[in-house]
Amino acid sequence: MRPPSGFVELADGWNSSASEAEQAALRAPSAPSTPTKPHLTVGGLVAAIPRVAWPTLAGLVFGLACLVAGASAPESSLLRVMVMECWSGWAWLFVIFFPVWAFHLCVVAVAALRATVRLACPRARAGAPGDAGRSLLATTLGWLPVGDCAVLGVAWLLLATSSWWAWGSRQLPEAALAREVALSELVFPPDFLWGAATAAYQVEGGLNNTQWYRFEQNFTRDDGSAAIADGWQCGASADAWNRFDDDLALMRALGLRSYRFSVEWSRVEPVRGVYDEKALARYASWAAKLRQAGIEPLVTLHHFTEPLWATDLGGLENVTLADDFGRYAARVGAALGRHVDYWMTVNEIMVVAMLGWVSGEFPPGKKGDTLGMLRAIHTMVEMHRAAHRALHAADVWAAAGGPGAACLVSVAQNVVLWDPASPELPLGALISGFLEGFYNRFVLEQLLRARPVAGGPLGPRGSGLEFMGLNHYFSMLVTASGFYTDFPRRFARSDLGWPLDPGSLFAAVAQYHKWAPALPIMITEHGCDDRRAPDLRRQAFLAQSLLGLRAALVERGIPLLGYQHWSLLDNFEWAKGYSPRFGLFAVDYRSPKRERSWTDGGRLYKEIIAANVAANAAA
Ligand code: BGC
Repeated sequence: MRPPSGFVELADGWNSSASEAEQAALRAPSAPSTPTKPHLTVGGLVAAIPRVAWPTLAGLVFGLACLVAGASAPESSLLRVMVMECWSGWAWLFVIFFPVWAFHLCVVAVAALRATVRLACPRARAGAPGDAGRSLLATTLGWLPVGDCAVLGVAWLLLATSSWWAWGSRQLPEAALAREVALSELVFPPDFLWGAATAAYQVEGGLNNTQWYRFEQNFTRDDGSAAIADGWQCGASADAWNRFDDDLALMRALGLRSYRFSVEWSRVEPVRGVYDEKALARYASWAAKLRQAGIEPLVTLHHFTEPLWATDLGGLENVTLADDFGRYAARVGAALGRHVDYWMTVNEIMVVAMLGWVSGEFPPGKKGDTLGMLRAIHTMVEMHRAAHRALHAADVWAAAGGPGAACLVSVAQNVVLWDPASPELPLGALISGFLEGFYNRFVLEQLLRARPVAGGPLGPRGSGLEFMGLNHYFSMLVTASGFYTDFPRRFARSDLGWPLDPGSLFAAVAQYHKWAPALPIMITEHGCDDRRAPDLRRQAFLAQSLLGLRAALVERGIPLLGYQHWSLLDNFEWAKGYSPRFGLFAVDYRSPKRERSWTDGGRLYKEIIAANVAANAAA
């Protein structure tokens, strides 16, 4: 190899600016000679080092340019997915490839260093023999990391393209969601519980003895903003505490057969061990009135809130809270049990734990606290067990000779399926399997495990659940590399940005049926945030999801107890405040009486229920 003029081929192959005299001196045999004054200049260094490192540097610059271009590329474009895959791929890179790459980089760095030292130190220069073979080796060394990058680049391109395909490159127009569904396609058996759901803190108003109230008042996010979006506070909410009779009239107008509501722990037990009998009596009267109206009450004991005294004792990180919860459940069971046969102990264990201890969106607002999250999950599972025992023990109405049926106890489990974008690629499939297991089955398996129940029957196979309460809104896609998850792109979106995938309720039900085949399933929440009038997306999402639910029942034979639409009323949507609109009835928060008005989604739901009644009567 001929070096360009002005450069000299050094002993180990590196070139450097050098005079003819220096070249001659370097080529001279190893006879002792007077050491020459070193010519270490910035230019010399720059000329010496990049010779080995330039391919690597060029590769890095190219990579960075791609990242910048991708980050500014439009959402859903292949380039954008490539960048996201690249970021997420760093984890795999680190585990599998990084050691090789790092080794190659080190080899290059050492070679470059040696060249620099040779250049700077005449003794070393003088002692090193020129060698074309070494020059070749050096060039090869310089290209090693680039070769690595090329291999990685190809792998990354494959991963990204496959994710992009599976994800859907384009969001479908909303019209695609609005396939006409005939009412006759949505007929369920006569005992199917058509219902709607709410939760105390989200609609009752005037609740200031809970950890959510304290969170709203005191918590500041990292960017200095308040805990609740747009500075909202729960306040008087929809005033459902004082307007139950009005809401019951709305339920009757809808033709509901069931209503899911929650009892607010902080009302019933405002001070530890001190129960408010009046509050209990009011909830009991609601259950009784519902029953009289032919509407089955479905009662939740813990829907995200607990009393401040419980928070001060360590909240959900303190597993002894389960004992308190068991006592509270016993009191509620005794007061309401005569009228209630369906109980949900804890709402969405994983949501509470992950949003409270991982993302920090919910109280206590902790981020990345894995241990705290696990402690909270453990406490909530124990709370379920304690309440399960207590509710059965309190269910004297079902005891031999007593009126009423044995109560059925469950949780309301938030279901997110984590589908691999490219199931044929092992990385993403592996991670999605892990997420699916962790998010859904980790808790499910613990709840299913047998526990002796004092004074009541065991669930199927002696499990801690007598039915499976499922809340479902959307599922996620895991990219091919497995470290990046996102909503599937090919669906219209609700105003919260959640994908309106009409097939996802069916998939959730079918999956849970596989995991817990002995348990009948109750959809305890499902719906969408549609702030427009008319709420076309709510209507289409409702009708199409019900079509899927019917397929689960009829084609798969999955036992389904009912469907509780989220929500009967617009409500306080936790950290998102009052902007989202999930209600079958819209609530006017500016009116002192919190006027309720029909949405078109509500009207459609009424029609569906009425069509069911008519079809079943005619059958
Ligand atoms: C919760 C509800 C909430 C709904 C919509 C569910 O996870 O149980 O309280 O309003 O999602 O975000």
